[in-house]
Amino acid sequence: MQIKLDVVGDLFLASELKILTAFQKNQASKTKGGKAETSVSIEHWSDKGLKEEFFNLKNSKNYKAAKDETISFTGATGETVWVVGLGDKSKFDAEDIRKVIAKILKGTRSSKFETIGIDVPGFNTIRDEARTTQVIAEAAYMTGYSFDKYKSKKSEPYHYTVILAHTEKKNGIKIEKALVSTKNICESINVMKDFVNEVPNILHSEEYAKRIDADVKKNLKGVKIKILNKAQIQKEKMGMFLSVNSGSAYEPRLVHLTYEPTKSTAKTKHVALVGKGITFDTGGYSLKPGASMMGMKNDMGGSATVYGAFRAAVLEKAPIKITCILVITDNAVNEHATMPDSVVTARNGKTVEILNTDAEGRLVLGDALDYACDLNPHFIIDAATLTGACLVALGNQICAILGNDQKWINEILASAKSQDEYMWQLPIINEWRQDIKSKVADIKNIGTPMRAGTGIGAAFLEEFIKNDIKWAHLDIAGVVDAQSHLPYCPAHGASGLIVRTLTNLLVNAK
Ligand code: BES
Ligand code: MG
Ligand code: ZN
Repeated sequence: MQIKLDVVGDLFLASELKILTAFQKNQASKTKGGKAETSVSIEHWSDKGLKEEFFNLKNSKNYKAAKDETISFTGATGETVWVVGLGDKSKFDAEDIRKVIAKILKGTRSSKFETIGIDVPGFNTIRDEARTTQVIAEAAYMTGYSFDKYKSKKSEPYHYTVILAHTEKKNGIKIEKALVSTKNICESINVMKDFVNEVPNILHSEEYAKRIDADVKKNLKGVKIKILNKAQIQKEKMGMFLSVNSGSAYEPRLVHLTYEPTKSTAKTKHVALVGKGITFDTGGYSLKPGASMMGMKNDMGGSATVYGAFRAAVLEKAPIKITCILVITDNAVNEHATMPDSVVTARNGKTVEILNTDAEGRLVLGDALDYACDLNPHFIIDAATLTGACLVALGNQICAILGNDQKWINEILASAKSQDEYMWQLPIINEWRQDIKSKVADIKNIGTPMRAGTGIGAAFLEEFIKNDIKWAHLDIAGVVDAQSHLPYCPAHGASGLIVRTLTNLLVNAK
């Protein structure tokens, strides 16, 4: 799918399919000069001819422009015209725009149209045409994604060009720039989705690190990359990370990426992103039952999410320094795998009793957080598919956020809101901090079973934050995959969510 902008209107006029919108009028239809007026509002249509054609249609008389109510007709020059009802204009927000655009484009997927013109002012219910253009493009790019490399019969590609016809001549350059940004962000979301969707027999730790390395070298000029192998991770004394890897057929990898803006000074803000990269989670000796194990290739979703955001922020030349740490291994079982009751020493020196090898995310992340703290960032965000309990608490739709600094959490929450991504804060309380004290070691990797799992997971991670660094933890277990309520996300596989929240946060940081 290609997206082009059009201000003059020529491209739009020549489109084979034109998408226009109509709103419900609040008052009942009035009579004007003896002639009945329809109850829909289409004042925003710039093409007078089309307006007339619409009013002459028999079926436009009963048309109410309710949400998703669409009528189609053939225009004077042979083009197809779809009039899409958006309902009450005052209630139609940016997320509604994404949803309706996704539905429209899905409806045209197997069509013969080469060019689809979208009348942007008609979607501008948020009173910002530049932002509307961006939101439409975002929805279009996200809808255009598919993962079918393992299918003999590939799904229908979105082969056409989408023309976004806006009227803001004076903002033309700004809108063009916004479209380039949108493309950068959506491309990075697609990279994230490809990593998550890739199968675990192919994307093991060594391969995953290689693919990141290749993408960085190809697309992220100026980014420094360091990849630690097993010997180097041993040297770092990452005892928790190594304990998770001990049952694996593959070496662990720690990917360390650094981006610095061109005008970097000692005062430049530094954010470290840390991501859980479990390429498959069997549970280890605390083996998951079969049904719960399916889908555990997604358990590297945190690392893919922070990498996607890092990638987009670099392409967007974020004004801050960004470090990205990805801790990568599978959680498998062999004769060397860690047995429950084992005690290991973490990188920060704390001893940890591993009572459940399925609580492995916190083990790899704990060592990575301690490593990240040594880089002295001002802020840390980690992302992880950490707990099944997160799905119980917040469902499939909401990302959980927990942390040690309310201002920092609020900033991230505000960013999520600006991108229409659901995020909700959960607490960390002292009782849960007590709950992970161990009888035989400093701490243990689980708390009371079936109680506050997401908060206890975060309380464990907090043990590895030092020097009062401001930290927030995102539990993306619920939102990492299929979002059946969001038409711009794939029905199956990686959702790509949270990359926009983090990118927006990094790019607009001061
Ligand atoms: N990767 C899982 C969490 C998960 C579960 C993500 C379902 C997505 C969907 C994590 O490693 C895990 O197994 N957590 C355990 C922790 C428990 C043993 C304290 C869990 O949630 O059951
Ligand atoms: Mg697990
Ligand atoms: Zn896991």
